[in-house]
Amino acid sequence: MLLPSERLAPSTATDFVTDVAEYLQRTPRQLPSRYFYDALGSALFDAICRLPWYRVTRAETALLARHAREIFEPLPRPLNITELGCGNGEKLAVLLENSHERFRRVHLVDISPAALRSARARLAVLPAIPVTTFQGTYEQGLSRLATHRGHGAWLVLFLGSNIGNFDPPAARDLLRQIRASLAKDDALLLGTDLIKSQRALQLAYDDPLQVTAAFNRNLLRRINDELGGTFDLDSFAHRALWNPHESRVEMHLVSTRAQLVRIAAADLEIEFKKDESIWTESSYKYDPEQVLSEGRLAGFSGGEQWIDEDARFALTLFRA
Ligand code: AVI
Repeated sequence: MLLPSERLAPSTATDFVTDVAEYLQRTPRQLPSRYFYDALGSALFDAICRLPWYRVTRAETALLARHAREIFEPLPRPLNITELGCGNGEKLAVLLENSHERFRRVHLVDISPAALRSARARLAVLPAIPVTTFQGTYEQGLSRLATHRGHGAWLVLFLGSNIGNFDPPAARDLLRQIRASLAKDDALLLGTDLIKSQRALQLAYDDPLQVTAAFNRNLLRRINDELGGTFDLDSFAHRALWNPHESRVEMHLVSTRAQLVRIAAADLEIEFKKDESIWTESSYKYDPEQVLSEGRLAGFSGGEQWIDEDARFALTLFRA
């Protein structure tokens, strides 16, 4: 059976209110970064990808364009592709444009309906390749792949260093889940941002145009709009810091004064102290050897790598 098109994850709205209530009451307070990506958040993320200081997307797109043939040469034909977290579909379009005759069908998975719409529109210029979509988490998308895989081999694309937003145990679990949903002859192409200078990382996550700050604060705007929150956006400051011990950039929203925030849909009142922070995202950075060992730990073989040494970004091809 084929994967159905435009399936909506039914529990997304309830997950949002439940997660917001639960994570905001943790110590330290947190919000899951997957909720950044409403329509405005996805547009702000697209803008981040164009900033001179955030090189992930440009570096990865250039590696894909330059090495598409080498990447695909060892893989079976025709090949099905699924992209976990496809965003606006731009990188996939670059890949398909370079060797579209190899692909049977494309399946897109993203948490953001707006991103799926953009990706579909972007891929419509390649009418010969059928495209289906699934709105939901990576884990939900993978479960569907395992049960609805249809004919032929699959290549899973997990690009953009999306894996970096998972802490190490969760990243391991996710790689294992990807491996478990694949069969012989399938493969995984993994994009990972690499450890680089503190200055480069600081500018990438706290840019002089404040686009990343807007992206971060938009999460509070979303809670206000969708869950009846009363966050005063002006009194939460964007902070990004490189934590070398954990090898991650942390993003926070720091309350600049003591204040009370209500969230009607969660029936919740939270008292923020001055300088109290909400931890909104971790972005783990890897070294190339570590990527290989994580892939092998998850049960993959192979591990051919293409690295942009200047931007410090790696593509790794694993075989199931
Ligand atoms: C989507 N993800 C890999 C981005 C990252 O680099 O962690 C999200 C992002 N956060 C701030 N800038 C970009």
